[in-house]
Amino acid sequence: MSALHPIRPQSPSKSPNQSQSQLVDPFGRHVDYLRVSVTDRCDFRCVYCMAETMTFLPKREVLSLEELDRLCSAFIARGVRKLRITGGEPLVRKNILWLFQRLGRHLEAGALDDLTLTTNGSQLTHYAPQLYAAGVRRVNVSLDTLDRAKFAAITRRGRLEQVLDGLKAAKKAGLEIKINAVALRGINDQEFDEMIRFCGIHGFDLTLIETMPLGEIEEDRTDRYLPLSAVRADLESRWTLTDSAYRTGGPARYMIIKETGRKLGFITPLTHNFCEGCNRVRLTCTGLLYLCLGQDDKADLRRVLRDKTYANDPRALDAALDLALDEAISRKPKGHDFVIERKGEGPALSRHMSVTGG
Ligand code: 5AD
Ligand code: SF4
Repeated sequence: MSALHPIRPQSPSKSPNQSQSQLVDPFGRHVDYLRVSVTDRCDFRCVYCMAETMTFLPKREVLSLEELDRLCSAFIARGVRKLRITGGEPLVRKNILWLFQRLGRHLEAGALDDLTLTTNGSQLTHYAPQLYAAGVRRVNVSLDTLDRAKFAAITRRGRLEQVLDGLKAAKKAGLEIKINAVALRGINDQEFDEMIRFCGIHGFDLTLIETMPLGEIEEDRTDRYLPLSAVRADLESRWTLTDSAYRTGGPARYMIIKETGRKLGFITPLTHNFCEGCNRVRLTCTGLLYLCLGQDDKADLRRVLRDKTYANDPRALDAALDLALDEAISRKPKGHDFVIERKGEGPALSRHMSVTGG
């Protein structure tokens, strides 16, 4: 059965005041954080994320940059204060800077607190100064290893130097940097000390992520799964970690590493449940709004956006989008229920991380 619900309103008739109301789900959680995947494409093929050969979406299915701006702005009008642009790799999308520049107007107007992106860093040398100019102040860069050969093996087609140069450029441009590393048993589990030192030297924060069962890949993920509770216990024999109250509104729990003064985050979707405080929803590049990373329930906002009824009536479209957002948020589930796939069984969810952007 399709999880899509009919969301086109019969008669979009909301008063302007109503449409300014906040998005609050049935469990009282304010949704003020939107993650937007702007493309399913990527110049890398990380082994835990993608298959070697991927079929990407045809262009007509993908929202135009104008459509993405319109949707993001609809969310911002309803109280979303933090936007994270993701992919795939957001910076491989043609003309992506235009979207950042457009969204920057909401920062200037004070309607948005934070415009950030998650990137693999491959294009940062080129884009970092322009991102800063558009109002971006922080970036998350995915980097699982500092070993050139391992980096090439994990990403299948990435070059470590390119990302290190990108990091240099981002730092120089004034961007705050957080490194995201997926913890992979037998691959980077001996490297965390070095990564902590590297981040300490450069003034980066570091977040370790457990692998999540999203999307078909070639390997069996149970071979690579490394529980972060074990990593933390091991790190604590060499580093002084103190719990920090710092939260980004995301699922990461942070510690301060006394020796470097930097933050160390742990994202443990499998060993911990972080749903109670969940304030976020995810939009795919085809306009599907996922209410939870770990569930398949979604709302098709592209259908509203491209509904011919509203073609020449932007106000009616805004009202229809508003209703669609209300309807979707009213279905936000209480929590997810990931379990790392048992050996031989498929992933818990068939969509890849590159679809919903993590
Ligand atoms: N499990 C955990 N992390 C993943 N990422 C991509 N796929 C997976 C997965 N299956 C990571 C990327 C990036 C972040 C957005 O998600 O490496 O750092
Ligand atoms: Fe690309 Fe990120 Fe997926 Fe790697 S994890 S293939 S960089 S989208």
